[in-house]
Amino acid sequence: MLRTLLGRALARVISACREKGVFAIVQTVRERFCESFPNDRWGMVVFLLTQDRGKTMRNKIGFLVLLGGLVVAGNSFAADPTTPEMLANACAGCHGTNGVSVGPSIPTLAGIDADYFTSAMQGYKKGEWASTVMVRLAKPYSDDEITAMGAFFAKQKFVPANQKTDPAKAKLGETLHNQQCEKCHENGGSSGEGAGILAGQWMLYLHATLDDYASGTRPTDKKMKSKVDAVVNEHKDTGIEALVHFYGSKK
Ligand code: HEC
Ligand code: HEC
Repeated sequence: MLRTLLGRALARVISACREKGVFAIVQTVRERFCESFPNDRWGMVVFLLTQDRGKTMRNKIGFLVLLGGLVVAGNSFAADPTTPEMLANACAGCHGTNGVSVGPSIPTLAGIDADYFTSAMQGYKKGEWASTVMVRLAKPYSDDEITAMGAFFAKQKFVPANQKTDPAKAKLGETLHNQQCEKCHENGGSSGEGAGILAGQWMLYLHATLDDYASGTRPTDKKMKSKVDAVVNEHKDTGIEALVHFYGSKK
């Protein structure tokens, strides 16, 4: 019984791979899960786990194969010496075509500073940066592959996310940004030199990341931490929310 179902599921995956390539599986995962994330960054993990409650064995196997397909696709792209574009394709399932993300929990990588990209990937690899999925996904990549992907994403055009913002919150955010953040995140957070591009980045991602800095689960330099702490001490979550609306409002 189990064998037959497993056999059938595998046969389907194999024929899908033959027809469209392994990437098709990643696309399916993206369509089914990534673009319908619930509203927080742990949402995807929780969502994926709850998907495993399928009543039939087929549902369960289908789910496991899909999840496995994502991991296998990531690993196989990493193992083959290929072009930077092909390496970056393994990320498109979540980070979007050429790194322009369409899911609010997932940051856009297009236009990212290459050095910052490398420190992010190394941070995930070493488990030092707060992460839901990147801790596992970054592991298979060599230093050379990371450099190649960083150069590729740095060349892509950053496209600001289209999202709703509250003008009053954004206004307070602008004030806070100018007081605490502009010195390093220049031009209202759009320069992204040595750090991520904040202006036009997905707000859900920014909010989760700022919470990570505030709680210390994502390490950063003392100065940056003290600025985030200053905002949180004075305004609590309202301050973070305001900053996020300011960055989200930048087009
Ligand atoms: C399953 C979805 C998924 C896939 C596939 C994926 N990522 Fe990510 N990525 C995320 C999420 C979610 C985050 C936020 C951190 C976290 O929660 O792990 C992230 C964060 C990042 C960041 C940090 C960006 C910033 O602004 O700080 C980088 C860099 C990154 N990913 C690179 C990659 C690369 C390179 C690949 C392909 C090899 C990849 N990701 C594949 C979901 C994914
Ligand atoms: C002293 C310079 C400095 C100041 C001031 C500073 N930052 Fe940063 N910020 C950085 C650097 C460097 C990074 C990238 C590496 C890291 O995570 O430490 C970063 C990263 C970030 C990120 C993560 C971007 C991503 O793509 O994941 C966010 C969000 C952020 N800063 C927001 C802020 C906010 C909001 C303030 C003001 C309250 C602020 N920063 C003040 C230097 C600074």
